[in-house]
Amino acid sequence: MFRFPPTFLFGTATAATQIEGGCATSDWSAFARQPGRIKRGDTPDVACDGWRRWPEDVALQRTLGLGAYRLSIEWARIEPRPGEIDRAALDTYRSMLGALRDAGIEPMVTLHHFTLPLWMAERGGVVAPGFAERLARFARLAVDALGDLCRLWITINEPNVLAAHAYLLGAWPPAQRSLSAAVRAHYGLLEAHVAAYRTMKEARGDAALVGVAHHLRITEPQRPGNRGDRMAARAFGHVFNDAFADATCDGRMYGALDALVRPSSGFRVPEARGTQDFFGINYYSRDVVRLSMKHAAELFVARAVPPGAELSDVGWEIYPQGLGQIVRRWARQSGLPIYVTENGIADASDSKRGPFLVRHLAELARAIADGVPVRGYFHWSLLDNFEWSEGYRPRFGLVEVDYATQERRPRESARLYSRIARERILPE
Ligand code: GAL
Repeated sequence: MFRFPPTFLFGTATAATQIEGGCATSDWSAFARQPGRIKRGDTPDVACDGWRRWPEDVALQRTLGLGAYRLSIEWARIEPRPGEIDRAALDTYRSMLGALRDAGIEPMVTLHHFTLPLWMAERGGVVAPGFAERLARFARLAVDALGDLCRLWITINEPNVLAAHAYLLGAWPPAQRSLSAAVRAHYGLLEAHVAAYRTMKEARGDAALVGVAHHLRITEPQRPGNRGDRMAARAFGHVFNDAFADATCDGRMYGALDALVRPSSGFRVPEARGTQDFFGINYYSRDVVRLSMKHAAELFVARAVPPGAELSDVGWEIYPQGLGQIVRRWARQSGLPIYVTENGIADASDSKRGPFLVRHLAELARAIADGVPVRGYFHWSLLDNFEWSEGYRPRFGLVEVDYATQERRPRESARLYSRIARERILPE
């Protein structure tokens, strides 16, 4: 039996576009209208109708006895046209955060969770000159308007995933397929994170604790005895998993390449060193990789799951040990407190989510017992929601959403998580 410290946060996570609905001014709502972009033609137009039903969702979390909630605020909604601020939208977010606080739920707010105002996307998005300043200005607006209600902030969610899906694999807007564009996007996001971090700290000091939600995977060679596979694993680990996180901890991103990147702003990677107050980890799965000539565009890396592995509905391996390895490694490297800002599973039948939760929390319990400063865990997700280009089919929610009626039905795993969060004890 393990007892979690009294200050440990048990929470859930969502993102604006995936649950809110009703925002026509974002790049994703435009993208979803293009035929063939999203499976089955799904769009985020309604999603979980969270923009109207949020009081119900706060009440649900209170009923479940959860102590924290990670949400994102939709830049496209707050600044629908450049410089034009929708005060009513900010007021709605204020009400949301106030209601969470009243319910004893600590909010963590993400500024940028994959989506952009359409006008920003049209000007070149994350690779546009001036993107960093724009995001920093939005960050300033957010902390000025909401800072008294929120202490924990994420500047950017999963910069590596965004760079890869949007600029290398062509699956997300702006649907490019170029390694050099992906590398530029990765740098652009780093510069924007640094600018946002500094602005928020200037405005709020230690009243705002600011981090990044890093997407980190376990990467292993498919055939450990094969030199090519080992190289592929190292390359993928360095470029995809580590580069951004290394930059924020140590001021190094791609090593020698860093010096070649000279954005017009004059930003240099070493300036990123020390730009986090805590280290956020989104952890889902493990890949085994091999060297593949057919995957030139992806650094010659082909990814797979180990034969016989236990899988989620979307084919990701369930690999709890990986979470333990990752929190230990990054606590050491960053020297910062750790929050698991996302971890979850697509499991429509809810037969695997309970054991998944317990096994991942057990990894955290062992790490905490060994002195690793893990401060909280946010399960992805509170609700079933819009899973980007996969549409609504994957079911990540502790709470099932009936999209026809918008009825919320807590699954068995929600009851289990609720019990763990209340008792702070992990069952054997
Ligand atoms: C993360 C992402 C979330 C959610 C989740 C499940 O990569 O931050 O928005 O989609 O994965 O796939």
